[in-house]
Amino acid sequence: MTQLQINEVAPRDGFQVEATFVPTADKVRLIDALSATGLARIEATSFVSPKAIPHLRDATEVVAGIQRCQGVAITVLVPNVKGAERALACDVDEVNLVMSASDSHGLANLRMKPEQSLEQFAAIVQAVRAHPGGREVFINASLSTSFGCPFEGEVPEARVLELVEGQLALGVQGVTLCDTTGMANPAQVARLCGAAQARFPDTPFTLHFHNTRGMGLANALAAWQAGILRFDASLGGLGGCPYAPDATGNVCTEDLVHMFEQMGVPTGVDLDALLAASAMLPSLVGHDTPGQVVKAGKANRRYQMPPR
Ligand code: COA
Ligand code: ZN
Repeated sequence: MTQLQINEVAPRDGFQVEATFVPTADKVRLIDALSATGLARIEATSFVSPKAIPHLRDATEVVAGIQRCQGVAITVLVPNVKGAERALACDVDEVNLVMSASDSHGLANLRMKPEQSLEQFAAIVQAVRAHPGGREVFINASLSTSFGCPFEGEVPEARVLELVEGQLALGVQGVTLCDTTGMANPAQVARLCGAAQARFPDTPFTLHFHNTRGMGLANALAAWQAGILRFDASLGGLGGCPYAPDATGNVCTEDLVHMFEQMGVPTGVDLDALLAASAMLPSLVGHDTPGQVVKAGKANRRYQMPPR
């Protein structure tokens, strides 16, 4: 069975919305622990405006401080050319461009409608390709609100596919379909994943689910059944979009890995090491996390019979 590729997003999607700033040294310590677990990639931070997302103002220091490990791609979110240039100066493996599939969320999050974002993308792709650095930087693009917009409601599948086509035409190499506020359901996920892969068979698609309505794992399972092998997930289930009302965390990485490993689907991730990393989180963020397996233990946990 083909191994999954898990992209850990807690250092970006998680730490961007925490109530407090996670100190740079703690971010570096967590990312280094995650790098040793077998994850395919780690979204380490975002190079956005420090006024917009003050908790990730230390992006340069974080990327400079972490240990780079063979086989673990370091990816970072970038919203514009300025962000791309800051990221490229840190020698990242991948940039993750971001735009919304809906006008309202695009304006709330990035001050751009989708078509304006695509214009930005053209300039970012050009900046990445013109960069004289040694390594080839992979260009991924995330499409927020692909399964529905918290302001507008339904986002038509045809619109999502049109925007994916626009991204690919500019030289984007991989696309992440994001359920930004947990509006997706498994039937919808199966449909969109099927349609996207049928229309763009050479494009690696990643699925990014938030567990806002408790459907995160069900949606991930539906995506896998539709042929998807790449998933974003967040340690402890942290995360959320600061520009979407009542947004909550991503599907939890250790719960996702546990589910797939229990099913016999290889993830390449050492679940015990991942659980140990997850156990670091409460002291870093100052609160309990929504992760389940870190509290319950793995399904093979056994208990003493109560005394009669
Ligand atoms: N890195 C650092 N600073 C940046 C920047 C970047 N990538 N992009 C813009 N800035 C700075 C500008 O230098 C400017 O600073 P100044 O006021 O000191 O001159 C300020 O931010 C405003 O720049 P402008 O180009 O007018 O951007 P904007 O105000 O239209 O903001 C975004 C657009 C997208 C850059 C900004 O809203 C942003 O970074 N949003 C974050 C979105 C996000 O991360 N959402 C959650 C994840 S999906
Ligand atoms: Zn997200």
